[in-house]
Order: sequence, then structure tokens, then C-alpha cells
Amino acid sequence: MRYTLALIVGVGLILALAGCGGEKKGRMAARSDIQEAAQKTYVAPGDLDDFYVFKSGGHSGQVYIYGIPSMRHIATIPVFTPYPATGYGFDKESKDMLGGYSWGDAHHPSLSETDGDYDGRWLFISDNANNRMARIDLRDFKTKEIFGPIPNVSGNHCSSFVTENTEYVLAGSRFSIPLPRGTYEKIEDYATKFKGVVAGIAVDQKSGKMSVGWEILMPPFNYDLGDAGKGPSAEWGFWTCYNSERATGKLEVTASQKDRDYVVAANWRAAEKAIKDGKFKMIGGVKVIDPKDVPGVVYLLPAAKSPHGVDVSPDGKYIIASGKLQSITTVFNIEKIKTAIEKKDFTGNEDGIPVLNYDAVKDAEVNVGLGPLHTQFDDKGYAYTSLYVESAIAKWKLGTWEVVDKIQVSYNIGHLAAAEGDTKHPAGQYLVALNKLSHGRHLSVGPSQPESSQLIDIGGEKMSLLYDAFTEPEPHYAQIIKADKLHPIEVYSKEENKHPKAIWDLKDAKIVRNGKNVEVYMIAVRSSFEPWKIEVNKGDRVTIYLTNIEQTTDELHGFGLNDYNINVVADPGETKTIEFVADKQGVYPFYCTNFCSALHQEMQGYLLVRP
Ligand code: CUA
Repeated sequence: MRYTLALIVGVGLILALAGCGGEKKGRMAARSDIQEAAQKTYVAPGDLDDFYVFKSGGHSGQVYIYGIPSMRHIATIPVFTPYPATGYGFDKESKDMLGGYSWGDAHHPSLSETDGDYDGRWLFISDNANNRMARIDLRDFKTKEIFGPIPNVSGNHCSSFVTENTEYVLAGSRFSIPLPRGTYEKIEDYATKFKGVVAGIAVDQKSGKMSVGWEILMPPFNYDLGDAGKGPSAEWGFWTCYNSERATGKLEVTASQKDRDYVVAANWRAAEKAIKDGKFKMIGGVKVIDPKDVPGVVYLLPAAKSPHGVDVSPDGKYIIASGKLQSITTVFNIEKIKTAIEKKDFTGNEDGIPVLNYDAVKDAEVNVGLGPLHTQFDDKGYAYTSLYVESAIAKWKLGTWEVVDKIQVSYNIGHLAAAEGDTKHPAGQYLVALNKLSHGRHLSVGPSQPESSQLIDIGGEKMSLLYDAFTEPEPHYAQIIKADKLHPIEVYSKEENKHPKAIWDLKDAKIVRNGKNVEVYMIAVRSSFEPWKIEVNKGDRVTIYLTNIEQTTDELHGFGLNDYNINVVADPGETKTIEFVADKQGVYPFYCTNFCSALHQEMQGYLLVRP
């Protein structure tokens, strides 16, 4: 932030005046607090934010980008859902990637890491609905790959979490089913014939391309959230699960009978080795390890019942599980886990998976408050746990386990995200509370309310609320990265455009007919299309290769075709493929949908479909 003193004073004055307005503005205790919050979040026009926050868009299927500290919504990245604003899901390339699905449930975004720190290469995000994983390239902020449906993974909720060097993105089953997908079994046989899976999706370090690395067959529990280890726990993946009762029906009752559920601890190095040694069976076309036959790959840690988040501390030493139906978070110690495994200090097993002795592996039970869900970290050795039932955040000290501060949020908090909070080196400073139920915090927009995100200052001893921002439903998690770690491009250079049908010269613009197939090599440049007239016969199969030959920042062109449900956008230097059958006869105008110049309105042409 580079605002001037005059601006700070100005904002302070404005807010002081606004504060005279009445009681309803007085939600934040004192006027001085309001002024301070305003100064801390005000990013003057033309100035830039210090952090990017990437928020999952839940069943909107998208990712939302906000700046911190301004909390301004900067952009939307469409991932699992078509998005006409950027033409996503209308051109052949992105349509193919969506694979026939028109939505996804975007859950947990995960920034790629090198040596346990965000490296600014990619953002992964899981689809809880259709069992997929997407990769966004942070060079151009676009979805480049949608991997899946991942075989055997059913309800990819406990995902995506990257290992320390992005070797794997962790995934798993929220809803156990008979495997492979497509198998029918009676629901009465749930406890024995249904199976869960935890998995490591391997990431090619050069291209980012994903493939199934390994899968582990698990009991029919509901795998909920996860985290990858770091430092001393770097070879481990952790997941919480509920429903260790293996129940069906009304899970709110049937799946909370036992006092304890589990945290899964899987050693991915051991899983890698098992695959290499041929100790797997093929299920659904991929290599699956059955822990019954391959000991040493996976263990269960008893945890407070119905846990949600499991989070690894920045030093990799502590694994913190939040039991949402109890008032404690449990802190496990990786050294104690390793020792218990070595000594075979087990208290039972589930389908061949050893259950570690709770008292031998836990370091502490921290009484954080009601409904703990998820924990984040700062740069000073503190942990921050969201409390769903209390609508609050508890700040507590790692090692002494002392709760030192609490702050109320509006209203029910699910996840929270601290600046660089999942890395070995959290930035401290800011934390975003991702809350449900925002009623009364904004102008009413009818029954369908947005979700509320609150920016909290965690730089001082006491947490303080800085800002309310709102977003489309429904953020499940977010990650915050320092702005200077990202260096996005603003145009695609001509050299990097590898589209085989790209053209760069107006004289190459042409229409080629081959029987019923019509290929159009089209250029979009301020402020016209070339060719601007496409004449075809009814029933022809039309393919347009649209190249935006601009090499200037911000010069996007769209291609909207009236009555044909097509809107494609080509960024500067980009080529998009548009395919359709000219099944309606008549004359159909097409036009540029992106405001591009004073003559944007003139950028148009005609599709003429002869009977
Ligand atoms: Cu091109 Cu508007």
C-alpha cells in the first residue's frame, strides 16, 4: 500500500463523519478502531494490493480472486462451469476440457509449493461433485487441465492438498461406494462392500500434467479434509474422516455414536514403493494398494469425533485435528507417531489398518471453544482455529497450548485462511474468515444471500476485524499468496501461439470448403473481423479458427453469434476454435462482445445460412 498521509487523514475524517450517523454503524466498537481499520485496508485508486486471495467458489464451480487488504474482487477464474464473460466453455478447447459437465463443486484451492513454500506456478482445486481435479496456470490465470473423473474417488472433498514439492495433490472419497464406480451393491452391505479411497495425484514438474500416482483402499468412512506434511512429516498425507460407525441413513445421528473418529496418516513414499514393487491390484483401471496386504503404508490416529480440518504446523511437527462435535482440537506429534509405528503401539485395526495408541501419539488437547473446524498459522508460532458454533476464531500458542485471544465473526465461520498460512513460512499480518450466513451485513439482495468474508488483522497481540467482503456462493477454502510471487503475462506472444490454425496476416484469412465441412480462418483486430461474411448451406459443419492478432495489453475481442448460443473470447495473441452446425437457415449477425475500442460497436459481421 502506498497511500499518502493526506488520504489516510481524509478517510479518517469521512469515517468519523459517517460514524455520527447512528447506532447501526457501530458494530465495531470504537470510532478510532474504524479509522484504524480503514487506514489498514484502504488501497488508493491506482495502488495495488499486497496479497492475492484465491477463494473457491463452491457449487458456482469457479475461483474468485480478491486483493488483500482491499478485499476488492479483482477477477473470476471459471474452472468447472462455463463463464460467458471470458468465453470459457464455448470454444472447442475449453468445452472439451469441461467434458460435458456444466458444473462442479469447487472445494479446496491449493497453491503449488517448492520446499514447502508457495512457488506461484499453479493453483489446484478439487471438484466434490464430479470427482475431478483442476489445474490453473498462474502465468495467465486460466484453467489448463481438468483431470478426471478420478477412478474410484467418490466425492473428491478431502482434496486438493499439495505435498512439499508438489509431487502429489492429495485426493480422496467423501462418499464411500462399491468399487469400481458402476458396481451395484445393496445399501445394507455398506459396512463391508462399500469402500473409500485416499489418493495421490501425481504432478509432472515441467508441464503440471496430472495422473493417478497411487490409491489406497480404505474402510467405508467419509473422508473429509486433509493436509500434506512438511519438514519431518513431509512424506505423509493426512486426512480426517467421520462415520467410523460405517453407518448409513441419517448420519447426523447414526454417524456420531462413537466418541472417536480418525485421522488417516498415509506414507506416500511407502505408497510409491508399493506401486513400484507391484504390490497393488487394478481397480477401475488404476493401481490400488490394499493395506490388508501391504503393511506400513497407512495408519489411523483416533481423533475427537466428527473431525473436520486436519492441519500441519509450519515446522511440520504437529498435526492438528479439529473435532467439530467437541470443544477441543487434538495435537498429534509426528515424532510420537513414528515411534508408535516402530513399537507397534496399536490399539486395534480397521480392515487391516493399524489404529495407533491415542495416548502415545498425542501431544495436547487444546480447549479452543465450540465447534472447532480448521486451523491456520502465523509467523510467530500461533495457531488460529475457526469455531463454527461460537462464530469465533481462537488464537492459541503452539507448544504451550494456551488460548490467548478470541474474536467474534459474522456469522458462522467455516474455513479460515492466513497469509501464506499453509506454508513453512506463514506471512502473518492477515487472516480471512470464510463465514456462512451474511444476513444484515450488506444491502439486502433478497433470499439468495452472498457469503461473507471478513479480513482480520493478526499482526498484533489481539486480533482485530478490518473489513467485510461478500462473494458468490460458496467459498469453502481460500489461499493467500504474496502478490510479488506472481508475474502473470498480459498478452500471448505470437511465438508461443502453437495453435495449428492460427493466422497473423489479413491476407491469410479465408474460408475453405470440404464437402459439408467449412473451415474459417478468421482474424480479429481493432475493429473488424476478417472475413466478416461467412456464407454456408444449412446443415454445414462450421469450424472457425479465431485469432486475435493484437499484441497489446487489454485488447480482447469476443465473438458472439446471434441465436446460436456462442460467445467466445480471444485474448491478445490467442487462437480459439469455434465449432457448430449451421442448423438454422437465415442471416445471423456476429459481433465483438468485449469492448475493445471506440469502434467496438462496428466490429461485426454476418453468418448467412442458405436453405
Ligand atoms: Cu473487438 Cu469489441
